[in-house]
Amino acid sequence: MSNRQYSQEELRSALAGFGINDATDVSRYGSGHINDTFKVETAGGTRYILQRVTDIFDKDVLKENILRVTAHLKAKGVKTLEVVGYENPWRVYRFLEGYASVDLITDPKDAAIAAGAFASFQNDLADLPAPPLKAVIPRFHDTVDRLRLLDEAAAADVKGRRASVAKELAFIDARRGEAAKIVKMMAAGEIPERITHNDTKINNVMMAPDGSTVVIDLDTTMPGSALYDFGDMVRTSSAAAAEDEKDLSKVYSKKEYFEALVAGYLPKAKFLTEAERENLAFSGRLITLTIGIRFLTDYLAGDTYFHTAYDDHNLVRCRTQLKMVESMEAQAAEYEEIVRRFGK
Ligand SMILES: Nc1ncnc2c1ncn2[C@@H]1O[C@H](COP(=O)(O)OP(=O)(O)O)[C@@H](O)[C@H]1O
Ligand SMILES: [Mg+2]
Repeated sequence: MSNRQYSQEELRSALAGFGINDATDVSRYGSGHINDTFKVETAGGTRYILQRVTDIFDKDVLKENILRVTAHLKAKGVKTLEVVGYENPWRVYRFLEGYASVDLITDPKDAAIAAGAFASFQNDLADLPAPPLKAVIPRFHDTVDRLRLLDEAAAADVKGRRASVAKELAFIDARRGEAAKIVKMMAAGEIPERITHNDTKINNVMMAPDGSTVVIDLDTTMPGSALYDFGDMVRTSSAAAAEDEKDLSKVYSKKEYFEALVAGYLPKAKFLTEAERENLAFSGRLITLTIGIRFLTDYLAGDTYFHTAYDDHNLVRCRTQLKMVESMEAQAAEYEEIVRRFGK
């Protein structure tokens, strides 16, 4: 969310634009990082989610993608976000009653449920009629391009921080070859482009007690690789500590959570090609390295992209990512074995 302040008048006039005039309470909601989200209670009892869409993305592209994706899922009978109205920069969804999201995984079962939900999401969108969805963020997962941006930031060194991150730069340098692997395989047609979610954090899956799920936060749904979606689940859901944990001894990838992700994902991801399955374990390391590269780039560039709470925040985040990569590398053989076991 942004730090922007909203008056009740502003929120209520946005709601009135969608014909909602009986709001009894409109208040900040959830812990999302991107949009400004509000829960709306009404005299009639119907509840809504009101969001002011972030300025980071092209709002028209976002709107078009979301309306197409939700309409497609709805037509197939798949439960999805119900769009009440969408007039940039505002949109209103029906509140998903009976569903909840968790911000932090404490039970591997949740990891399995979320992974299954994202697999089904990819599967359900495979037959979205042409044209392809537009790229909300061009080159979002292009690790080669991310490396180029890192090199630029290191060369410019606007804050004089380069010397202090020599170790991190060397760590990344040693992995340049593998960093390019998926980008190259996609360019060569060896790994297919699919419609993917691109923000597969656990709190973007709403879960009901009966195990049913709704994938939300569709802002970054666009063409990509299934591997990036799975890899980001591994990065976020197998992490033993927060993204900005300073004590690196607490930071590692938990094998039982990785196993739960694979167990939830593979049975519902029958569409995967052999090349994708073979790179599933690797994808976790790759995405984590890529995010580490982005944090370091922003640190060198003077913290212009990610919101930071203190001076070295981006460096701390970079270090957790590189530590996660190290941890996954150390467990690579076991992780490969898990994928083989559940892939049968
Ligand atoms: N339709 C909905 N019904 C109930 N809760 C919702 C709904 N949409 C979003 N939320 C809650 O609001 C949080 C933030 O919404 P989200 O769309 O994920 O925004 P962000 O892009 O900022 O992460 C979610 O994690 C979820 O808890
Ligand atoms: Mg979210």
